[in-house]
Amino acid sequence: MSFPTKIQAIGINKTGDFDVIEKLELPFPQPAPGNVLVKVHYAGVNFIDTYFRKGLYPINSFPSALGSEAAGEIVALPTDEKVLNDEEFKLRKFAVGGKAAVYGQGAFAEYVSVPWAKVFPLPDGVSTKTAAAALTQGATALTFITEAYNVQKGDIILVHTVAGGLGLLFAQLIKARGATVIGTTSTPEKAEIAKAHGADHVILYKQEDTVQRVLELTNGEGVHAIFDGVGKDTFEADFKMIRRKGTIVSVGNASGAVPPFPPLKLVEKNVRLLRPTMGNYVYTPEEGRTYSTELWRLIADGTLKIRIHAEYPFTAEGVQQAQKDLVGGKTVGKLVHKVAEP
Ligand SMILES: NC(=O)c1ccc[n+]([C@@H]2O[C@H](COP(=O)([O-])OP(=O)(O)OC[C@H]3O[C@@H](n4cnc5c(N)ncnc54)[C@H](OP(=O)(O)O)[C@@H]3O)[C@@H](O)[C@H]2O)c1
Repeated sequence: MSFPTKIQAIGINKTGDFDVIEKLELPFPQPAPGNVLVKVHYAGVNFIDTYFRKGLYPINSFPSALGSEAAGEIVALPTDEKVLNDEEFKLRKFAVGGKAAVYGQGAFAEYVSVPWAKVFPLPDGVSTKTAAAALTQGATALTFITEAYNVQKGDIILVHTVAGGLGLLFAQLIKARGATVIGTTSTPEKAEIAKAHGADHVILYKQEDTVQRVLELTNGEGVHAIFDGVGKDTFEADFKMIRRKGTIVSVGNASGAVPPFPPLKLVEKNVRLLRPTMGNYVYTPEEGRTYSTELWRLIADGTLKIRIHAEYPFTAEGVQQAQKDLVGGKTVGKLVHKVAEP
């Protein structure tokens, strides 16, 4: 197979506002001995892209392609003998021409070269579009409801940003465990979509008193766990809505990072507080295989519906618009960029 010497990518040469996002021409990513080379069809948009663009999360060098997940066709395999003989590598059953999703920085590019452990082959029932939309948020939702707080039947769980890409997956998976889902969102339209994805009660936080409603719905006891992707704006109120010995999972920073606080804050209700990242739960090759297999199974058998809000072009303007819509709270579900025809 012959490859171009240059590829198109979308990224940044400095951190800043939306206008720092530009088209980049980068050298073709040379296949490293332990990497899989993938021709990208679709790339998924995540809130984390905005953190890198703004400089909230550090970037090592510029130019830097944005994006952290994509899916497409495998065009080259690792050549390192040690990798080829690794039992976990063999279990992935990689094949040139096969489809796969990848997790790694710089995914808004025509081709990506990714360490094999972060490449997840797709079964027939999962398209590259769905996989690019599902990998990060699906793996986050699955690991967080298992390892950050192991959701049990009968639990009552609060999910902020319930109508977002991650939120709709949390709602479906928590509901499927037999727990009650209380969500928060901004508009009645978003609330209806969240309910259609498993939320039992949705609080319109701009019109209602969220703390009061949660306490009403839980007989004054509070919820067993909170998954909070809003961050700064909701952190204080979380302590009023969590029950004694409950778990607050700080998921992200949509409104800004949570400021420092004293550990004594946890004393009042013996609260557990975590601030995990999916990448530390899906870290070893075995964890990657376990969670990706589970994710593709849940999608293929229809348990988990991936709602794609819109498909944005693979241009600087397209990436700018996707980020504007995401941080502007205008989206419901997942945003993707179409990079090439599958
Ligand atoms: N820790 C991890 O490994 C991990 C992995 C994936 C995602 N995350 C985090 O999960 C959260 C959701 O990510 P996502 O990609 O699925 O995004 P998203 O939920 O689709 O979009 C963000 C939503 O947050 C809500 N929101 C509330 N307050 C906001 C504010 N001040 N500014 C902007 N939005 C606000 C908006 O919904 P309403 O209109 O309903 O308010 C908006 O639609 C983010 O914090 C992200 O960083 C963390």
